[in-house]
Amino acid sequence: MKRILRLGVNIDHVATIRNARGGPDPDPVRAASLAARAGADGITAHLREDRRHITDNDITRLTGEIDLPLNFEMAATDEMLAIALRHNPHAACLVPEKREERTTEGGLNVAGGFDKLKPFADRLGDAGIRVSLFVEPDPAQLDAAVRLGAPVVELHTGSYANLKGRAREAELGRLRAAAAHCDGLGLECHAGHGLTFDNVVPVASIPQVVELNIGHFLIGEAIFGGLDSTIKRMRALMDKARANAQGEQSA
Ligand code: PXP
Repeated sequence: MKRILRLGVNIDHVATIRNARGGPDPDPVRAASLAARAGADGITAHLREDRRHITDNDITRLTGEIDLPLNFEMAATDEMLAIALRHNPHAACLVPEKREERTTEGGLNVAGGFDKLKPFADRLGDAGIRVSLFVEPDPAQLDAAVRLGAPVVELHTGSYANLKGRAREAELGRLRAAAAHCDGLGLECHAGHGLTFDNVVPVASIPQVVELNIGHFLIGEAIFGGLDSTIKRMRALMDKARANAQGEQSA
């Protein structure tokens, strides 16, 4: 079966740069609009408790002004649930959030936090918001995601991106096995974190992965090459990897 690989562009770090000066520039909503024209399939934005990058007003504008589906990244808190229900994004990705972390470290402990997470997944799902859980490539977490009733998981590729050599190959093996396990469970499989031009191809080649969410590298690289050409190049790498993998499968 041929599966398309979607690109979700995470625009958080356009807001990081904006907030460094406190003014309106650069505007993350403008970046989202440009990403749409460059071939992104969706926009991802993480409204953190401390509002260090994306703000409430950005979410209002993203849902009102951008035609692409919004993947709203959120911690499982009452405040974020109320905001998600008010804006009704296409999807909500539940992530662990620590105030002192620089970025989302590790995946959600779905198995261990089941009772806390279940009401959030239920309320979002009842509102018609597609619930995704950001998890490590660990079969126990995927099994728990199914029990929770989430239709989607996003596999955390941060370890894969940070490791080198054989350790990276081993982590890639875990990602491949987890993606195959998702298929068996009927879970839609996404992946993201730390992906770059140099490391995206092996992940894009995993046939069960249907969406990659990429942010920090794209926004940083855009300083040198422009956002339009950076997104187009990432798209091209992903499309080529997927086409090659499908060619190998059918050969
Ligand atoms: N997916 C999720 C769930 C994330 O939390 C992040 C980081 O905000 C990303 C994808 C994108 O990661 P990066 O910015 O490293 O590309």
